[in-house]
Amino acid sequence: MSVSPAHHAHAHHLPTYQPPADFVGRAAVSGMAAYQALCQQAAEDYEGFWAGQARRLLSWHKPFSQVLDASHAPFYQWFADGTLNASFNCLDRQVERGLGDKTALIFEADDGVVTRITYAQLLAKTCQIANAMKSLGISKGDRVVIYIAMSIDGIAAMQACARIGAVHSVVFGGFSAQSLRDRIHDTGAKLVITADHQLRGGKQLPLKDIVDEALALGGCEAVTQVLVVRRSGAPVPMTDGRDRWLAELADSQPTVCEPEWVGAEHPLFLLYTSGSTGKPKGVQHSTGGYLLHAVLTSQWVFDLKDDDVFWCTADIGWITGHTYIAYGPLALGATQLVFEGVPTYPDAGRFWQNIARHRVSVFYTAPTAIRSLIKAAETDPAVDPSHYDLSSLRLLGSVGEPINPAAWQWYYDHIGGGRCPIVDTFWQTETGGHLITPLPGATPMVPGSCTLPLPGIEAAVVDEQGHEVPWGQDGLLVVKKPWPAMIRTIWGDPERFKKSYYPDSLGGRLYLAGDGAVRDPQTGYFTITGRTDDVLNVSGHRMGTMEIESALVSCSELVAEAAVVARPDDTTGEAICAFVVLKHARPAGDEAKRIAKILRDHVAREIGPIAKPKDIRFGDNLPKTRSGKIMRRLLRAIARGEAVTQDISTLENPAILDQLAENH
Ligand code: PRX
Repeated sequence: MSVSPAHHAHAHHLPTYQPPADFVGRAAVSGMAAYQALCQQAAEDYEGFWAGQARRLLSWHKPFSQVLDASHAPFYQWFADGTLNASFNCLDRQVERGLGDKTALIFEADDGVVTRITYAQLLAKTCQIANAMKSLGISKGDRVVIYIAMSIDGIAAMQACARIGAVHSVVFGGFSAQSLRDRIHDTGAKLVITADHQLRGGKQLPLKDIVDEALALGGCEAVTQVLVVRRSGAPVPMTDGRDRWLAELADSQPTVCEPEWVGAEHPLFLLYTSGSTGKPKGVQHSTGGYLLHAVLTSQWVFDLKDDDVFWCTADIGWITGHTYIAYGPLALGATQLVFEGVPTYPDAGRFWQNIARHRVSVFYTAPTAIRSLIKAAETDPAVDPSHYDLSSLRLLGSVGEPINPAAWQWYYDHIGGGRCPIVDTFWQTETGGHLITPLPGATPMVPGSCTLPLPGIEAAVVDEQGHEVPWGQDGLLVVKKPWPAMIRTIWGDPERFKKSYYPDSLGGRLYLAGDGAVRDPQTGYFTITGRTDDVLNVSGHRMGTMEIESALVSCSELVAEAAVVARPDDTTGEAICAFVVLKHARPAGDEAKRIAKILRDHVAREIGPIAKPKDIRFGDNLPKTRSGKIMRRLLRAIARGEAVTQDISTLENPAILDQLAENH
């Protein structure tokens, strides 16, 4: 550990940790001077900087001649006249470089069984799935929904879509039939790829049954085929003419499939995420710009080298599993661990055991996982990380939510053994890859701060009118220039794209992240202060308050009205707190518990178990202004158990505050 006394006066008086000396020399970006030189280069010739990276890191079929096209801003285009294929860049390229026999993926199943696949084998498998899809008539531009757990098949299916220019939309296996149906409907997918079951924590959970249920809900008539991966082997119903086992179709296909060369702006995938309104948005990413950022940050931020074993614990159903499992590390030729299970099965030492077993060197996980494993080690010393050989680790990463300094310190000391830099990576589904993060061989780290933007990313903190605020002052996080991996549009809703990310209130030229941020007065380091819109972050899972409210209100026989807010939670970061007005009288005691359970189950059915409210409070009414607007800031104070000190002069029914505060 090296604490620099010069930085002791930092925000919150936290120490600064210098990158370890042995790291600095061999890292992709070595030393702060190298970082600043890259920033300088981007500032002086923005397009030249990105063009140089795109030529260095990607294999183009037809080179691009134009870099950034801003003529339809904010619908920016990058490298638009170049053509390439993402799967070629991830797989063929490695085989051509002589890495065909290198392990691409080490798959550790829930029950501990390990399967390895080399780059040459993954390429062959990808081609077979691609040919299988082609045999069903799937071609460039068609949408394919993938609803599957962590698996080699899942990653190969994504790569196979990329290979033929089909647009995948992976739906997290924890989403309900209703959520799956909404996504299938919105994409207009022709094909769904799923598995019979998923195995997690020793349990067998349905996937195929949920696909059947989703399709039966209606609105998914474009789906003519369902391909099913056999995982559990337990029987599932198969609909004649629609459903087939993937292996039966793919195993007899040729292991070669010419990549479809697509324009750099061709959509690589759609990924649904929550926004301020009830309906999740289909974030559309490009092929060229997205892949560039995925591979660039895998190199700069994770410093992946040929002998590394990289483990990102995210699921392929989220953006992290796209950029830092399915694309970035493969495009660099890295070896990755892919884990099917959960951190607590068979016990809460599973993560540490996996690291020791597979000699993981770069580990990337979420603060929620860290916090829950700290707790687990406190209650059961047998799973304390000190019992595992974590000496293979050289770099740690954090993503998905702010990491509190105490969790950072524990991660640094107990997992990294005081020798591994931590990259606290701030980014979003929409940004495609990291935006603000330390570079492990350059940036001095401060626990709880994601530090500085990557070279080529012009992040700033502004007020409501879009004017930059002084360092030390809270404001809205924005990005001043378009960057290659940015969201291209919201599928089917370009107006919503403009309104959400390039609002007129900020002049229409600043990307609005939706997060608050503050910069350290001395260093300019960024600290993210949380969402400024109606988006919740529970265990790093992003959800909209309106989405959960609509789910509650859709239980129409019981619920008259509902409002959802977040309150801080020690483990999950934020917890969901719902205020509900029933159609009949306000329940108390056991009756309140019974109805709360019905409502939680209802939300699990509508969205998925991750959206179940932790607290449900019943009231005769909700605090409203005289014009009928729910006063959420009051609800937030009540949810936190704080006294309401805000101005309540516009409140129509002040007595309701006491009722909601006492009733829980
Ligand atoms: O609020 C920020 C938080 O997660 C949001 C993005 O969520 P999602 O699109 O699901 O992507 C998660 C994985 C990138 C952001 O708006 N967030 C993400 N990373 C951090 C973070 N907040 C603070 N620090 C981070 N490192």
